[in-house]
Amino acid sequence: MHASERKGGKAAITAVGGYVPEERLTNQDLEQMVATTDEWIRSRTGIESRRILKDPEKATSYLAIKAAENLIEKNQIDPLTIDMVLVATITPDLHVASTAPYVASQINAQNAFAFDLQAACSGFLYGLSVAAGKIAAGHYKKILVIGADKMSSIIDYSDRTTCIIFGDGAGAVLLEPSTNGMGWEDEYLRSNGMGRDLLHLKGGGSLHPASQQTLEDGWHALYQDGKSVFKHAVSEMATASEILLERNGLHQKDIDFLVPHQANQRIIEATAKKMDLPMEKVLCNIADYGNTTAATIPLLLHDFECNFKKGDKLVLTAFGGGFTWGAALLTWAYN
Ligand code: UT7
Repeated sequence: MHASERKGGKAAITAVGGYVPEERLTNQDLEQMVATTDEWIRSRTGIESRRILKDPEKATSYLAIKAAENLIEKNQIDPLTIDMVLVATITPDLHVASTAPYVASQINAQNAFAFDLQAACSGFLYGLSVAAGKIAAGHYKKILVIGADKMSSIIDYSDRTTCIIFGDGAGAVLLEPSTNGMGWEDEYLRSNGMGRDLLHLKGGGSLHPASQQTLEDGWHALYQDGKSVFKHAVSEMATASEILLERNGLHQKDIDFLVPHQANQRIIEATAKKMDLPMEKVLCNIADYGNTTAATIPLLLHDFECNFKKGDKLVLTAFGGGFTWGAALLTWAYN
């Protein structure tokens, strides 16, 4: 539904935060672990290093809490005023209980209700959509949406096709009712369950509960058919973004920034090319972080916050496991 059709008003991002662990896993490190080269990884993915949360005692909640604390401290938010905390992740601390209530408690958001959302690399975008809807309906005034993933916990570091891509990190945004007419404008979200054969983690769910066999078969690590996922990602992110622009009467030249999920630099460039957007307008930080799954988009917003001006038009777009994908159009609401 278009934002202008909603009765409760428009939601706006009013603050951002982020966190990545100190420890780097470089291409040179990976050369020692699997049959790969720095040159191959750079040219095929654009990635130079990723951040890894090495401490086995620390999980995704640690990343999420750090990102939330960064946002809260930077913007002097009283956590008791937060109504809802949503954590988008595919690497929850535990299957049960969900990660968000723990994060909410740890940041002292005692008046919030909290839940996780699992939509892989589109999780943060889906989460923003849910939160924007809650604000628009007039139910809540302050919603924290966090994208966080400790991808290193589900990666098989002997699988060279997958381990080179992923890293750990978290980003967070605060959504509030817009006070200046700027904010969440429109969204186009889709999914296709047939994609689960091409990108999944099979073991430990109700279909294949954890067993000696699932361990032996390596079903507790992420699997992807990279080539197929690559093609779908380019086509769907570009199409979703173009549909949004068209139905809002906008052209490529009206967009100030494309904020694409960071899975592969070649996917990002191919998407921009398909949309006829110059790379100056396309935000990238994949070289330093790799693919942090639900955290890529909020980490971009965090890293490039200083570049945004009030009134800038941003298109956020993601594609990931499920398949899930989509795009959102928003007007940046503050300087
Ligand atoms: O964010 C969630 C969604 N995920 C994505 O969007 C990821 C999408 N896919 C990709 O980013 C890329 O497909 C990969 C980076 C995973 C792989 O790149 P590719 O250009 O599609 O490579 P490929 O799988 O077609 O493999 C090409 C060759 C193969 O060798 P042969 O069969 O041509 O001899 C692979 O065995 O490259 C080989 N290869 C490697 N060589 C050196 C695969 N991985 C590596 C590696 N180092 N790490």
